[in-house]
Amino acid sequence: MKDAFKAVKISESVYWVGAIDWKIRDFHGYLTSRGSTYNAFLILDEKITLLDTVKAPFKDELIARISSVIDPKKIDYIVSHHSEMDHSGCLPEIIELTKPEKVFASKMGVKTLKEHFKLNCEITQVDNGEKISLGKNSLIFYETRLLHWPESMISYMPEEKILFSQDGFGMHLANYEVFADEIEESILFEEGKKYYANILLPYSKLVLKLLENIKNLGIEIKILAPDHGPIWRKDIDKYINWYEKWAKQEPEKKAVVVYATMWGSTELMARAICEGISSKGVEVKLMPHAGSHRSDIITEVLCAGGLIVGAPTINNNMFPKVADYLSYIKGLKPQNLKGFAFGSYGWSGEGATQIQNILKEMKVEIIRDELKVKYVPKDEDLKVCYESGKLLAEKILG
Ligand code: FEO
Repeated sequence: MKDAFKAVKISESVYWVGAIDWKIRDFHGYLTSRGSTYNAFLILDEKITLLDTVKAPFKDELIARISSVIDPKKIDYIVSHHSEMDHSGCLPEIIELTKPEKVFASKMGVKTLKEHFKLNCEITQVDNGEKISLGKNSLIFYETRLLHWPESMISYMPEEKILFSQDGFGMHLANYEVFADEIEESILFEEGKKYYANILLPYSKLVLKLLENIKNLGIEIKILAPDHGPIWRKDIDKYINWYEKWAKQEPEKKAVVVYATMWGSTELMARAICEGISSKGVEVKLMPHAGSHRSDIITEVLCAGGLIVGAPTINNNMFPKVADYLSYIKGLKPQNLKGFAFGSYGWSGEGATQIQNILKEMKVEIIRDELKVKYVPKDEDLKVCYESGKLLAEKILG
């Protein structure tokens, strides 16, 4: 494979040696429509160092790309920034092959790797702020707990001003162009935002703290090298500003209406609500259960001002697809939302009430009681839906 799968030089001393996953469409429940990459980096120095590995089935691709530059057996150090399987899946086999002098991980990383794998070597703990020399270059490690797992850390190579940011600043985007400046900006924004909403959103306070720490430490970043998607060598400030905006979740003049329908009644209610929202000039995104993936819904919800959720009642419960959406959205903890629940019913009508209860648990500011319609909405019911949408828009506009 090494004659076909090559490393890509990204700086004086560093090569990208990762893998491109063109096929993946489900990344632990997240619809990855454009595939992904598992980035790994090789630093050529007195101590030849591999930063992270790749998902297990891509081991041969990683080895081939490394082999296009050096014999993998010459690797002295391996750094594991994060134990999740997309970065550590083939670590045991790479250790077996390369027999490195040292493998580094954070304190919790040492523990987590041992809990995942039977490794034939010791893992060396590196502490927050610790620096190791590779020869002419060095790496400084910073713990980034919960970004994205408790053991996560990032590293900075001051000599070439490269921040290896691990999951942070990543995106699921398979591409032969390794650098972000070779890719259309609208795609970067769309996939960057989707990644943030689906992976990092619950830890937004920690993201803001990390951005502040980077500023306070005076770290100059010439290359931003995440473990998924493209590498940034231009417009890094712009990308960091996008992150700051997503992490702050300042609500935009926008509402998201999510619904499921059985015989069209809840759909009619949803459409009337949207008409009311739109009448006040607030952007509205209508997301029917047929064709809307949970990971696209949370992407739309990120930075929205309103969330309205509707479902008919089936067997004394909300329609199951909506339960899926709410379970997923609730876990990602979006903030600063106003909204309400709605839905049609035949005789018992628990669905809309269950939705309202979940919205309350999510700390959505409820602007009216759940809106229920028996069987088929009449003109007067649709008027109430319209007025409720209008009321929500007014609340969003403040
Ligand atoms: Fe890319 Fe949290 O793993």
